[in-house]
Amino acid sequence: MATVKFRSGERIPLEMHRARMVQKISLLPVDERLAKIREAGFNTFLLKNRDVFLDMLTDSGTNVMSDNQFAAMFQADDSYAGSETFFRLEKVLVDLFGKKHFLPAHQGRACEHIIARTLVKPDSTAIMNYHFTTTKAHITLMGGKVEEIIGDEGMKVQSKLPFKGNVDIDKLKEAIARLGKDNISFVRIEAGTNLVGGQPVSMANMREVTGICKAAGIKTVFDASLLADNLYFIKSREKEFEKIDIIDITREIGSMMDVIYFSARKLGSSRGGGILTSNEEMFSRMRELVPLYEGFLTYGGMSVRDMEATAVGLIETLDMDVISQTPIFVEALCNEMQAKGVPVVTPPGGLGCHVDAAAFCDHIDQEEYPAGALAAALFIASGVRGMERGTLSEQRNPDGSEQLAEMELVRLALPRRVYTLSQIKFVADRFAWLYENRKMIGGLRFTDEPKLLRFFIGRLDAIGDWPEKLAKQFEEDFGESL
Ligand code: F0G
Repeated sequence: MATVKFRSGERIPLEMHRARMVQKISLLPVDERLAKIREAGFNTFLLKNRDVFLDMLTDSGTNVMSDNQFAAMFQADDSYAGSETFFRLEKVLVDLFGKKHFLPAHQGRACEHIIARTLVKPDSTAIMNYHFTTTKAHITLMGGKVEEIIGDEGMKVQSKLPFKGNVDIDKLKEAIARLGKDNISFVRIEAGTNLVGGQPVSMANMREVTGICKAAGIKTVFDASLLADNLYFIKSREKEFEKIDIIDITREIGSMMDVIYFSARKLGSSRGGGILTSNEEMFSRMRELVPLYEGFLTYGGMSVRDMEATAVGLIETLDMDVISQTPIFVEALCNEMQAKGVPVVTPPGGLGCHVDAAAFCDHIDQEEYPAGALAAALFIASGVRGMERGTLSEQRNPDGSEQLAEMELVRLALPRRVYTLSQIKFVADRFAWLYENRKMIGGLRFTDEPKLLRFFIGRLDAIGDWPEKLAKQFEEDFGESL
């Protein structure tokens, strides 16, 4: 396991890799950070990377690849149809999940599009532990509805429950009884449940959910995008699996689910995505859509180089030294934050450290986007780019009213193998300063609000001149230095 105990008793993360290529980054002075976030419409998605010091927006497509992944890219077999690269990737995936068929797609949301087109009928309901933004958008675009059945504890910011992503079995049974199997498009389980703080799902829960769905004749869909973190938590938090090989856990998950899909920008630390199934009927329906929306069946919109890197990255996911790296660093960041009084989601999950913006900015109304405001304030205070995961990331209700998020989070994603422990300590230190000055942070309002996935490209303005005041305070406290 990639942690080490010092003689003082302190346990810290220990990297089981070394850097062999680096990228220069720089930290702009606070007045320029203020100008840049204004230019970006207070939306961290619209910042330019060159203006960002530590990019903790996402792990998507930003994980460091291994030497073997880069090496594999050179053997990519460029061809529109029948590429050898495809067969190599297919073999790895079929072996990992034990499914018969693999369909490539250019990324995770493309898989969601194809699955939604195949399985979602108008007015049907897709039941899931929790939604992801793009998943919900594709389902609703097809006229379907989303119902979430995560356990109540999963929605509590602070908890000791090891598997907060678990489905509430009573809610599942109730939903099936109420809706009836014909009105349920599928039951979806998302590994490493993203929007509740990268929280895992236990094997015991997956077994129970899929057992109930099988008995009721309802299809199960598994989002494996964050499976690597989830596998680490199954091995480290679920006693039965402590000594079971990661490949055997993966195969058991594969055997339980009717459809598996993933974003290779996360799983496999590369780029691309894909769908797996052994169901012939679903396969043949989905197969028709791949050449139409993605590309021919042996590349599906992916570059062959990325496919080679994905194949190697997936095999590397079977190594505990590899998959433990992010969760251990997330835990280190959460611990640093908590030691300074900053409220974060507990227990620490995968993906990143999630700051509780509702508690942090309890003076900001939810309709003025406390998590969006905190993400903007963080950039002013540190040049660190986080991501809003709260009301701003929701879609408005059909009547135009706000769909208030159940949690207001700022996510500090830790792309795999990118940041060092001193950078983690820097983030925690600047966040602690922000916490002391939190009452200075004010709300945001939209100046340009797209209808669909507004958080990506929407522009906002600060309500009042709090960003200027915050930057001035920062200058007074820290001077012109870092
Ligand atoms: N499912 C989950 C659980 C995800 O986290 C993502 C992407 C997707 C599906 C869609 O995959 O990006 O390849 O189209 N999550 C990224 C994030 C965007 O930042 O968390 P994609």
